[in-house]
Amino acid sequence: KVEKNFSTMERSSTLFNILEVDGIPLPVLSKEMWNKISNFQARPDDLFLVTYPKSGTTWMQEILDMIKNDGDVEKCKRVNTLERYPFLEVKFPHKEKPDLEIALEMSSPRLIKTHLPSHLIPPSIWKENCKIIYVARNAKDCLVSFYHFHRMASLLPDPQNFEEFYEKFMSGKVLFGSWFDHVKGWWAAKDTHQILYLFYEDIKKDPKREIEKILKFLEKDISEEILNKIIYHTSFDVMKQNPMTNYTTLPTSIMDHSISPFMRKGMPGDWKNYFTVAQNEEFDKDYQKKMTGSTLTFRTEI
Ligand code: A3P
Repeated sequence: KVEKNFSTMERSSTLFNILEVDGIPLPVLSKEMWNKISNFQARPDDLFLVTYPKSGTTWMQEILDMIKNDGDVEKCKRVNTLERYPFLEVKFPHKEKPDLEIALEMSSPRLIKTHLPSHLIPPSIWKENCKIIYVARNAKDCLVSFYHFHRMASLLPDPQNFEEFYEKFMSGKVLFGSWFDHVKGWWAAKDTHQILYLFYEDIKKDPKREIEKILKFLEKDISEEILNKIIYHTSFDVMKQNPMTNYTTLPTSIMDHSISPFMRKGMPGDWKNYFTVAQNEEFDKDYQKKMTGSTLTFRTEI
């Protein structure tokens, strides 16, 4: 079921077209484009990076590109991260072609990113048994980060204020739909597919251990020296200063870092500065309800 009905979150400067697919608002150009995305032909050696927005996608992009390039920082700095990774479902206004077409022309092995929920992923990805890395981040920090991203990225609907955005996030009426459905859907999919399911908070706590998990999953060996280089180059402070990872090379009409920088805080727990006591209580109750029946758990101290 595909329909376009997202008027409540439109702002005049919104540049993304928003298409509802199965009730999930997606930044997809048209129904024709959605058909092309659904029929996307994956290759067996593709590596997909999947996340719900604001879960550490850019961070993982840099980690994976550094692994692919054996820790060669200069190679990773060849061009900004948005050009290095096609974003399966998106057509950016500053690019000539949709990223899907860019992906089709890329040589293998490809690194492709997507925010699609598991049930909307192009079936060829399952058929070709592609490797997938999924990064999940705790819901409260995702919500806060997503709110600030809506403020600075004029491609996205105007978030109005934190309260309004909180309500929309909780009801799943945001781009890519419900955080709850997304993290649970991909968690369930990992039992039957080649999916490495990682957590933002774990990478923050022990990047070495988590990168070693990735290396094992990718069947790749690197020296201790390269591993340390990757950890350093992909740390928040270094990525914040790197124009090829911090999105400052984009026109301000797409991202305005003076409103809120893309590399904002990069810490677990910032939600505590935004949630009221009442919102937190309501959130916790709702969380219990929505996560019931799933074995997926997040670290509770956050
Ligand atoms: P905050 O807004 O909480 O700071 P995505 O890339 O999926 O859009 O996620 C963006 C979030 O990841 C932002 O969170 C950003 O600061 C954070 N981030 C980006 N690079 C990071 C890094 N190297 N370490 C920790 N967090 C990082």
